[in-house]
Amino acid sequence: MKLYNNKERCVSGQEISDEIGCSRTAIWKYVEEIREEGYVIDAQRKHGYQLISEPDKLYPYALKARLRTNIIGQHIHYYDTVSSTQAIASALAMEGVEEGTVVIGETQESGKGRLGREWYSQKESGIWMSMILRPAIPIQRTPQLTLLTAVAVAQSFSEFTGLHIDIKWPNDILIHGKKIVGILTELQAEADRVNSVIVGIGINVNQALTDFPEELRVKASSLAIESGERINRSDLLAHFLYTFEKLYTTYLQHGFTPIKLLWESFAVSIGKTVHAHTLQGTITGTALGINEDGVLLLQDESGKEHSIYSADIEIE
Ligand code: BTN
Repeated sequence: MKLYNNKERCVSGQEISDEIGCSRTAIWKYVEEIREEGYVIDAQRKHGYQLISEPDKLYPYALKARLRTNIIGQHIHYYDTVSSTQAIASALAMEGVEEGTVVIGETQESGKGRLGREWYSQKESGIWMSMILRPAIPIQRTPQLTLLTAVAVAQSFSEFTGLHIDIKWPNDILIHGKKIVGILTELQAEADRVNSVIVGIGINVNQALTDFPEELRVKASSLAIESGERINRSDLLAHFLYTFEKLYTTYLQHGFTPIKLLWESFAVSIGKTVHAHTLQGTITGTALGINEDGVLLLQDESGKEHSIYSADIEIE
């Protein structure tokens, strides 16, 4: 941590041992250990240590050095390979871990998408993570958290990259019409009480187009492709978690209305003709907006209003 916060200079062994209260030999051993993880650390007798570069990994200490949050990301469970971060987060939530706990996998072997689909999670190219929340809200309000997450992604990514970000209902994040992020919200609840909400987020960060399976290339993309720049995943994730925490706090204090306004400001479908492909069939109409429950309101040609709870949306 000390080395992260002082990248421009050498930090003496004494300074580090004063801060963390261990011997200089222990520090040397630790430096050797993290060098093996890919950190390049310059060590100069008499002067001390300087962090020259870090590996492209989402290591918890890389993230913690950048975090500006009080709750979200204070506990991080990091894995190289996982089945799905959702499955691990669900198990941890059952064990009673604290709100804000984050699970990160560098790759997922069976990443889960919405509507039972598979989520392609290439190693070290994206951010595959799940967050555990414990909001004191009734079950019917939990879809609002998906919309809140989409707003946090849209806001933090537009600040981070300067790119224009669109949200396609309910929670696809698009840049130049291509999907960059997917959000999957799962619930652990009793009859009328939410125990935990697991918010899973898959972010395509540094993939090249050829990294995607051929059938995805027309509709998926990554931040690097769209911005033309390689992105530091830890910087991006820390900024997202900070933005998420601010919005989540606003939501818990003031309700969904401020979030709904923000969501609508990023929404690409409002006022347009859309086809909503639901399990019961396709409904075509003008997207009027969302209601307080995050339900999409469509008006068909005859003027009839439809409430869409779950669908794939195609914009005409
Ligand atoms: C979608 O279909 O748009 C939602 C995709 C959600 C993918 C993320 S990646 C991290 C987390 N773990 C999973 O298995 N799925 C979610």
